[in-house]
Amino acid sequence: MIMKNISIWTEEKQNTVCNSLHENLLLDVLIIGGGITGISAAYQLKNSGLNIALVEKNTIGMGVTSKTTGKLTYLQENIYTKIKKYHGLDKAKLYLESQIDAINLVKNIISKENINCDFQKVNSYLYTNYDNEKLIQEINILKELKVKLNYASSLPDKTKVNNAVFIEDSYVFHPLKYLYALKNKCLNSKVRIFENSKVTSIHQENNLYICKIGENFIKAKYVILALHYPYFLIPFWFPLKTSIEKSYIKAFKVNQNDYFNAITISKPITSLRYHSDKNQNYKIELTNSHISCTKYNEQENFNALLKSQNSPDYIWSNMDIMTDDALPFIGAIDKTNTLLIATGYNTWGMTNGSIAGKILADIITKKSNKYLALFNPLRKINIGKMLNFPIVLGCNTCSFIKSKIKKQKPWYPDNVRFEKRNGDNIAIYIDENKKEHIVYNLCPHMKCSLIFNVVEKTWDCPCHGSRFDIDGNSIEGPSNYNITYPKKNL
Ligand code: FES
Repeated sequence: MIMKNISIWTEEKQNTVCNSLHENLLLDVLIIGGGITGISAAYQLKNSGLNIALVEKNTIGMGVTSKTTGKLTYLQENIYTKIKKYHGLDKAKLYLESQIDAINLVKNIISKENINCDFQKVNSYLYTNYDNEKLIQEINILKELKVKLNYASSLPDKTKVNNAVFIEDSYVFHPLKYLYALKNKCLNSKVRIFENSKVTSIHQENNLYICKIGENFIKAKYVILALHYPYFLIPFWFPLKTSIEKSYIKAFKVNQNDYFNAITISKPITSLRYHSDKNQNYKIELTNSHISCTKYNEQENFNALLKSQNSPDYIWSNMDIMTDDALPFIGAIDKTNTLLIATGYNTWGMTNGSIAGKILADIITKKSNKYLALFNPLRKINIGKMLNFPIVLGCNTCSFIKSKIKKQKPWYPDNVRFEKRNGDNIAIYIDENKKEHIVYNLCPHMKCSLIFNVVEKTWDCPCHGSRFDIDGNSIEGPSNYNITYPKKNL
């Protein structure tokens, strides 16, 4: 098989892509974003009696949800050490409960709706080969939280490790099969879904949000921003509260499925799982994750995957939003509880996106939810305790400056070039047929210059994770604008 530069999950296609929006609507709830968060929220709200629509700027699931490893586990690196340190043991306990609730939520939906999404119960390992102290610290907190742990000195595929613990109530699944099934359930319940429909502005008038999509407008009482990265700066000042973690993932054929998932306690993370589909077994490995500003040579990271013992059948990269205080942002960001966000999952998008859907639905339907305060996006962040905060600040600045100097990276092939044309900074990629693909080399979000992702053939922003295809169309936010040259519509 020839290696594909796409996520393994994207081989699964939707039966039908929904039409884009060509009418004005008046709604109770508008959900912007069709990843795990948006679709889960729509699913939770579908029988509420409210008039709901979901709009997705590309197609359902094709943002970060398609790039995940698809694990549902509550052993998450050293998350409980961090939460205890920043927020105390009670909050660490509550976070643990939220992850267990999320896993049960997904499990119950799959069973109730009879969804075929390769959902599999597997043991979940947390291990180290060199950082025993960090693992022991996390184990001690897990014990305080009454987690039942098992101990091991090797992984089930016989890989020897220095020290490992595992839990038994963890799962893996195919994220897009799950998402597409939920989408269909929503459509059957009269939730309206519009794909290839980009919201380009939101403002509020007379207690209604007015959202512009192409030539049309949606007016809604509630807006859920189920976006990987919100596209506005104020009032939330998101870049100051988060950083971007980039990771590199490959899937390769193996003879058997060893039915476990695992993750290392220390960065750079190695995370792995198995997946079986159509009588073929795959191992999926994520490696070399790093805060985006700390390493620019993506090619080196991809090369490490390409040259490793098992050559990939699929290779891709992902960008996760990391919050300064180790907790996601899920909830309202305005006084009237009508503008809601969910993001900053610290690489644990499948559990947090699923529980976010429930929390957001509970806010809108005015039900109580015990996680509201924990994930409150407007919570006070104790900067004094945040080792991360100076790093985040430095990272934002450093990414901006570094992106400006030396655009022509030494690892770029000859078919990637930078020029000034009619006063504009442009970047050119020349494809196999010698066709030039020209883009503005400036991210519309906060004006960082872009890096060419040689493997996936995308223009990636090192500052906050916007991605564009070779013709400049925005694939992932926060930039909501394209970088097509010469300038076309959005
Ligand atoms: Fe923020 Fe590019 S400058 S994503």
